[in-house]
Amino acid sequence: MAVISDHWPDIDVTLVDIDKEKIDAWNDRNLSNLPIYEPGLQEVVARNRDKNLFFSTNIKKGIKEADMIFISVNTPTKVSGLGAGYASDLKWVESSARLVAKYSEGYTIIVEKSTVPVKTAELIKEILTECQKDFDSINKNFSVLSSPEFLAEGTAIKDLENPDRVLIGGEDDKSINELKKIYKKWIPEEKILLTNIWSSELSKLIANAFLAQRVSSINSITALCEVTGAEIDEVVRSIGSDKRIGQKFLSPSPGFGGSCFKKDILNLVYLCRFYGLDKVADYWEQVMNINNWQKDRISTLIVHSFFGTLTNKKIVILGFAFKSNTNDIRESPAITIARNLIANGAHIVVNDPKVSKKQIEKELLLKEFEKDIISGGKWNFECDIFSGSKDADAILIITEWEEYTKLNWQKITKLMRKPTWIFDSRKIIPKEKLKKLNINFWQIGTSEN
Ligand code: UGA
Repeated sequence: MAVISDHWPDIDVTLVDIDKEKIDAWNDRNLSNLPIYEPGLQEVVARNRDKNLFFSTNIKKGIKEADMIFISVNTPTKVSGLGAGYASDLKWVESSARLVAKYSEGYTIIVEKSTVPVKTAELIKEILTECQKDFDSINKNFSVLSSPEFLAEGTAIKDLENPDRVLIGGEDDKSINELKKIYKKWIPEEKILLTNIWSSELSKLIANAFLAQRVSSINSITALCEVTGAEIDEVVRSIGSDKRIGQKFLSPSPGFGGSCFKKDILNLVYLCRFYGLDKVADYWEQVMNINNWQKDRISTLIVHSFFGTLTNKKIVILGFAFKSNTNDIRESPAITIARNLIANGAHIVVNDPKVSKKQIEKELLLKEFEKDIISGGKWNFECDIFSGSKDADAILIITEWEEYTKLNWQKITKLMRKPTWIFDSRKIIPKEKLKKLNINFWQIGTSEN
């Protein structure tokens, strides 16, 4: 939305939310207090805020004055009821549609931006039509479009400025053209793909499923490389040179995280089962299974490196975000791995350049987990890698932050206890840097460990 306001000075863009704390943070004079860390975002907000970009809790006014409304609410996995653990919870989409039905005036285009299971636009339409009957004294007309978002966190502004494509799914030419006109200001027309509404909704889910599948595919091969003598970098370069496969999205990792992949795959699995396509559901569920296996594999190999117990072992975790350039820790592999290590008795020291102690606390201090902790497992947060490494037995890299590629390993490992272990689950440390340090080194996807 901020990017739209940047390209369209004569369109007023208002973001409304019921969460006052969030809106206050978006309006904070100090731009480093914006609720999301994203390279380039502060600059875009600074350029447009209070000119044609507004953040408000006045939902009624926002909806009433809007010609076009983007529904960009959360669609988490359902935790109870039908489809629990798989299906997306559409309660926020539904309540947003009800508010639109109540407060909108005149002709309003509703653009569904949240990632939603196929046929959600139908639900929105139904709510709007039903509610219309209750408010028929006022003249209301709606058109529903689907235009899913393909940006990735950490590169959001770049992705929005120069997308591979944008999708507009819908049936009504007038509203399709209105939305197309907005995108066309900075996106070449050939990148604006028009589809029917269901293809648009499904394409978003499938794009994420395919990307996650690539990560699980390459992660499954890391383990094979480690036992056979093949090198994952060499395999990636070789297969990636085949244009049909391509180089991107083949970086080995401790597993994919983030708010989207897991949710969307589970949703796809649910959808397939719903339509009786059990084999298809099983196929996509394997992408999740490999992801869980990779996280467990890494924590298990660390426990084995210390002969089966982490009691009295201090392990520094470098990076808690689900990937670099974001402060988002949702579904981060760091959560599972840290919990596993703590459960095995380790003292975990966490460092991350953008994630706060409070965020981690929420994930690691869950009541149901506390009973699993044996033999004094505990954790603390440490801003300074050097003091964190003092008397540590191991360092584990989980997030590929650039600063971790430039660390002075000689200085750090001198502070640590012997035998010293470095575990690099992102393959970001050049092996030569550690050669003369007389330490144990494990790196993902290589057999020279
Ligand atoms: C993902 C998609 O890439 C976006 O296109 C989509 O719009 C977005 O979900 C969404 O649905 O909102 P995002 O979750 O922000 O974006 O991040 P990705 O860059 O896709 O990374 C996801 C996870 O995969 C991260 O944990 C990352 O470290 C991991 N990954 C990615 C790898 O392990 N290896 C790779 O080669 C690439």
